[in-house]
Amino acid sequence: MSRLLFSGGTVVTADGSYRADVLVEDGRIFAIGANIDPEDAEVVDASGKLVMPGFIDGHTHMDMPFGGTMTADDWASGTAAAVAGGTTTIVDFSLQDVDGSLADAIETWRGKSEGKAITDYGYHVAITNLTDEIKAEIPSLPEKGVSSIKIFMAYKGTPLYTEDDDLFEAMQIARDAGVLVMVHAENGDVIAKLQQQALAQGNTAPRFHALTRPEEVEAEATNRAIQLAAIAGAPLLVVHVSCEAALEEVHRAHELGQTVYAETCPQYFAFSYDDLAREGFEGAKYVCSPPLRHEWNREALWRGLQIGDLQIFGSDHCAFNYHEQKELGRDDFTLIPNGLPGAEERAMALWKLGVSEGRLNENQFVAVLSTNQAKIHGMYPRKGALVPGADADVVLWDPELEITATAENRHGNVDYTPYEGMSFRGGPAAVYVRGGLVYRDGEVVGEHGSGQFVERSFEAPGLETRV
Ligand code: URP
Ligand code: ZN
Ligand code: ZN
Repeated sequence: MSRLLFSGGTVVTADGSYRADVLVEDGRIFAIGANIDPEDAEVVDASGKLVMPGFIDGHTHMDMPFGGTMTADDWASGTAAAVAGGTTTIVDFSLQDVDGSLADAIETWRGKSEGKAITDYGYHVAITNLTDEIKAEIPSLPEKGVSSIKIFMAYKGTPLYTEDDDLFEAMQIARDAGVLVMVHAENGDVIAKLQQQALAQGNTAPRFHALTRPEEVEAEATNRAIQLAAIAGAPLLVVHVSCEAALEEVHRAHELGQTVYAETCPQYFAFSYDDLAREGFEGAKYVCSPPLRHEWNREALWRGLQIGDLQIFGSDHCAFNYHEQKELGRDDFTLIPNGLPGAEERAMALWKLGVSEGRLNENQFVAVLSTNQAKIHGMYPRKGALVPGADADVVLWDPELEITATAENRHGNVDYTPYEGMSFRGGPAAVYVRGGLVYRDGEVVGEHGSGQFVERSFEAPGLETRV
């Protein structure tokens, strides 16, 4: 039997903060209380640290083909970056092959993750070809431990793009099967038309990525997805909400009592349209979808996190190198692969911009990074909670830790970081997955392949974060 005692720290959960020791036995939380007798346990001094449940990132893209290339991070480098940011579980998008089944996608992703992952992990299936056969396969996902699918309303002209009738039918099927439908909500038809017109006028620079995906394009698709889900009577998760106009649609759905979950991401707080408009081709480093917005959107996004219209904060880690990958779109912004790295910076960015600036408290921080993620992604209370019986996924958060991000000190495999030169105060000092140390003092020490698959099941949790 192995025993570990986190001694003298402040336990921070989604519900509150209190001084307590945390005893771990064989990888699970055994007891939480004041002055626990260490007996034969290995003692970890947590004084001055906040003891938090390991962070969960329900939105990553590791080793995924996209935009004619492969993401720069595979499961080895991507989960190294994740643990360096305090993340102990990821849920990654297994991409359906156009000619393949959903089961094939899961098997392919098993092959990519096994032997490499340092975090625990689950899979969503990202749909690329929603045929009748594939629709009929959706109900078999929960028995494989997969409780969510992602459907893309954007990326017209690629297999990802899905028509409304198929999206709607998938919602009906998912509703009955206990599967959560996640949507990438942007109007693909309008984007395709605006892109065509921009290119015809010789507008090829990275900033046209945002100018051809205006906020209304996201708001319209968000509203449409919400209405389709209402007709289908299905719960819905709108991922990567980037702007006030889209968030208003989510807010309205909540006012009407509809079960709509919504995620936002660090890039929409740390960066803006101005980064896309950087000189030369630098803006390509900031191309993601939905695109970076004007800064004035942030106030609404913070409010969304505060009142619980936005319940989760995922990274949308989808990394491409600047050289040879982002550069594919040097003469045509539509060819720049979409996505940013952010798994490592997700929590530190939220602490810096949210908690340190007084916009969120430490309990809301834990809710959106961990507990709500576990609930929505079907892993609670095994993950996302510090309670007896839960996996001992633990972050020792040091509010005084200082680090300046630069490409050289990142733990992923990307040749740049959009966070270059950004200083953070507050970060993970040590990170544990099921009681095993995976990260300490800037160094990833977890073994590749030590991460385990987490079977998930979805039950449309009511979240208590709204006030
Ligand atoms: O730009 C992004 N977000 N790339 C990843 C794919 C997606 O749509 O989530
Ligand atoms: Zn997306
Ligand atoms: Zn994504």
